[in-house]
Amino acid sequence: MRAVARRAQDFVLGVLVSGSGTNLQAVIDAVYSGRLRATIGVVISNVATSKALDRARAAGILTVVIDHKAYPSREAFDAAVVESLRGNCVDCVVLAGFMRLITPVLLDAFPHRVVNIHPALLPAFPGVQAQAQALAYGVRVTGCTVHLVDAGMDTGPILAQATVPVLDGDDEDTLRERILVKEHELLPAVLQWIADGRVEVVPAPSGAAGGTKAARPTVRIHAHGSAPPPPRNAGPTAR
Ligand code: GRF
Repeated sequence: MRAVARRAQDFVLGVLVSGSGTNLQAVIDAVYSGRLRATIGVVISNVATSKALDRARAAGILTVVIDHKAYPSREAFDAAVVESLRGNCVDCVVLAGFMRLITPVLLDAFPHRVVNIHPALLPAFPGVQAQAQALAYGVRVTGCTVHLVDAGMDTGPILAQATVPVLDGDDEDTLRERILVKEHELLPAVLQWIADGRVEVVPAPSGAAGGTKAARPTVRIHAHGSAPPPPRNAGPTAR
């Protein structure tokens, strides 16, 4: 695969992975096809044997293994991740099958710039085994969600969702595969919105916390070019 040199104006992604990396591959393919105008500055895995690392290496992308077991706390692990992300001038962090809970150490280093993809229509079926949860509940429609990450488990502001029907006879594997098809379309598209500065985080309205649900921030997706672009990282020492 052709290597593409990083330009000064590139929007730089840092992708965190733990597993097979099909979403990473979708992002790589979108970058190389020009559908996603961004650069992948680094792929970081907490699992040295992750297939996602092979995908990154095959695409000529810098890979870093940071083994969480080598750190005394989640915060210490996240600090090492942040150091690598900053050292590679990352603007936006993508959790693409990253099987670790992240802490404020990472969130505060990239405010509103950590994105996750989840294989269910949040807030339904957060956490692990979302497809099995959907099958067990008996929903007829499920899907995937791309959202900004906050301190909760799959609770951050929702950027976009895509639906997938649950078919009679579906098992976890067939449902997972059909959801992944949608994930691979949705994630690069949403990353382009962020790169274009189209995503505005709308703070929770003050005084709205009196209802049954706590007030929470939401996002507004602007028409192309109508929102200011996100801040670019000027270099390894910028943050
Ligand atoms: C995807 O289903 C994603 O939604 C979830 O973990 C899975 C990762 O798959 N967070 P892959 O590693 O991208 O193939």
